[in-house]
Order: sequence, then C-alpha cells, then structure tokens
Amino acid sequence: MKVPRTLLGSDPRFVRHLLAGPDAFRRADEGPDPRFYEKPRKVAHLDATALATVETLVGALVWERRPVMLDLMASWDSHLPTSLSPARLVGLGLNEEELRANARLTERVIHDLNADPRLPFPPDSFDVVLNVVSVEYLTKPVEVFREVGRVLKPGGLFLVVFSNRWFPPKVVRVWEEASERERVELVELFFRDAGSFDEPRLFMSMGLPRPESDRYWETGAPSDPIFAVFAEKRGGGPGRPTRTVPPDPAWTEPDPVGVAERLRQALTTLRCPHCGHPLSRWAVPDDPCIDWDVEYLWICFNDACPFVVRGWRVLWEQGQEGHSYRFLLNPKTGGATTVAIRGLHDLTPGIVGGGWVAVWKDRPPTGASQK
Ligand SMILES: C[S@@+](CC[C@H](N)C(=O)[O-])C[C@H]1O[C@@H](n2cnc3c(N)ncnc32)[C@H](O)[C@@H]1O
Repeated sequence: MKVPRTLLGSDPRFVRHLLAGPDAFRRADEGPDPRFYEKPRKVAHLDATALATVETLVGALVWERRPVMLDLMASWDSHLPTSLSPARLVGLGLNEEELRANARLTERVIHDLNADPRLPFPPDSFDVVLNVVSVEYLTKPVEVFREVGRVLKPGGLFLVVFSNRWFPPKVVRVWEEASERERVELVELFFRDAGSFDEPRLFMSMGLPRPESDRYWETGAPSDPIFAVFAEKRGGGPGRPTRTVPPDPAWTEPDPVGVAERLRQALTTLRCPHCGHPLSRWAVPDDPCIDWDVEYLWICFNDACPFVVRGWRVLWEQGQEGHSYRFLLNPKTGGATTVAIRGLHDLTPGIVGGGWVAVWKDRPPTGASQK
C-alpha cells in the first residue's frame, strides 16, 4: 500500500508526534491575548522584499474579480496588491487602532480566536480567507481552520502565509520548537485535520537579499523566507479557474553549460561564472579542518548572485536550513570550490562561517574541480 506523504515528502506521523505532548500549544505568556495586543504595533513584520512576494502571491491566487474576503488576525496591512478590489474585506483581529489604520478594510471585527475559535460569520460567506504571519499564535488551530471551512464558500480559498519571525511571548511552543520544514507540515496537518478542504498546496520563496534599508540588514540574514500553504474548500463547482501558484521570485534555473564556459575563462576575467560580478581576493583563514593549499582565493561577494540565492533553497531542501554558499575560485588550479555561509556577512576577510565545504547540487558538469 502506498504510504501517504506530506507536501514535503515525509511520513506524516513524524510531524504529528510533535503535537502529542500536553504543552504543544502553551505559550510563555498565558495571559489574555487582548491584554498583550492592547498596544498597537504598526510595524512591518517582514522586510520589503518578502512583503512584495506576499502581495504577488495573493494577486496570483485570487482570481475572483470582486471577492468577499476575510483577513483573519488582521492588522494595519492586508498585503493586497492594488490590482485586487474586494467587494468586502473584513479584518478580524485584536487591536482596534491597528484595524482602523488599515484603509483596505471595509469592516472591522475584534474577536479573540484563542478564547473562542468560532468565527462570528454565517456559513458560506467568503470567497477568500487570508491569514498572514499569525498562525503561530493559535492555540486551537484545527478548530479555527474548521471554522474557516464553514465560513468559506465551496471552492473558496484559505491562504496561510508564514515566515520565521514571531512575538516570542505569544508563539505556541510546538511552532517555536519545530524546524521550518515541520512548520510547513504542521499547517498542512491543520488543513487536513479540519476535514473541509481539498488537497493543500505549497508556495515557498527564500534567499533573495534583504534590502539594505531594512533594520535587520546588519544581521546578514537574507530576506525573510515566505512559506504559504493554501487549499480550497471542498465542493467548488466544475469549470472554475485554477489557482495558479506564481514562480518563486528567488529561483532561477541554473545554466551549467554557460557556467562551465565562463569558469574556464574565470582566471582571466576574474568574474563570477554565475553572475558576472567581479571576484574579490579573499585571504584564506587559518582553519585546521581545511587544507586550502593557497594563500588566497577569489570569491564572489554579490549577495544577489543566483548561485548564493539558490543556495539557501538548495540546502534547505537537503535539510540544512539557514545556510547557503558562495562561489570560490582557486587561483592555482582555476577550479571552483564553495564555502558555506549562515549569513551574508560571514566571509569578511579571514572569517569562514560554518567552516566546511558544501555539497554543490547545481555544479557545472565539466571544468570545475571540487576541492
Ligand atoms: C504578527 S501580527 C500579523 C498581523 C497581520 N496579519 C499582518 O500580516 O501584518 C499578529 C496579529 O494577530 C492578531 N492576533 C493575535 N492573537 C489573536 C487572537 N487570539 N485572536 C485574534 N487575533 C489575534 C493580532 O491582533 C495581531 O495583529
């Protein structure tokens, strides 16, 4: 018998066991949520690049011309592209001032979903329900997902978007302790356990550089990753448009033939074969684990280099969350090497993040000698 797999290809029992403990949905602050959210927080929860990805995703998945929409756990921004004109946009959240600052909302509802997961709306009311960077605060997620299933029209869309940042006092323990992969699978499980949705689907984007104007740019973290799990309520009529997942803006297809050709010239051009950026001379650090056999290497420091950008996702898929790599050229051999990074500022001269050579999935087929 074929064993069902999660969206990420794992055995679903692995993620279900995370929910088995009695404390899975406990929070550091077990006080009433309305008290925590009393103070308005009109902040950007993600960097501008990640927010643009969310808008693009919403625009791509919502095909309805004048949808009736619910922004569940809403604040001052509902992340709708300007091209989308809902007939109604109801915002449900805990802070009245935040909701009043949201000019796109046509209705505002204050309701604590952890105190009462029932949604104050009649069945089959909405074409689309959005939940952005908030699912990690739900203490009874399956009940809430079931309620979303009740208030959606058949064929209606429930889109749950999340990243890897949250308010620590109010995040549920299972979310904080899970890996990014497990968080995707947890949300998938909430959809499945709610029982009212068609097959969940997944969108992911990670690895684009963080804008230099962002307040966390100094940390060296790339743009906040975007994960979205979404599904339609069962029973949608035949012949309705398909919801098309947009391409991941961070992913470009590798060009192994072109890269191999440019690599052959790289000692002359001193340019990165992946992006054409001039290479920088990088003093080899004193690392007892790696014998580089050279005093310096040429390295591509372009944070938008497709090799670096793709690397965050390639390594994520291999189970190395939060890592990428940079292209290195050996001045003696003209061969290509990689070095792992955990942040974009890791490799300031003499510093190697991680200190190990990464597995290079989209390696040029010829002309490159892996160290
Ligand atoms: C991180 S903010 C995200 C806001 C918004 N969705 C966005 O994308 O900017 C989390 C929001 O969830 C809402 N929230 C938190 N706990 C809630 C609860 N128990 N019931 C309803 N809303 C809640 C808060 O009002 C807060 O605005």
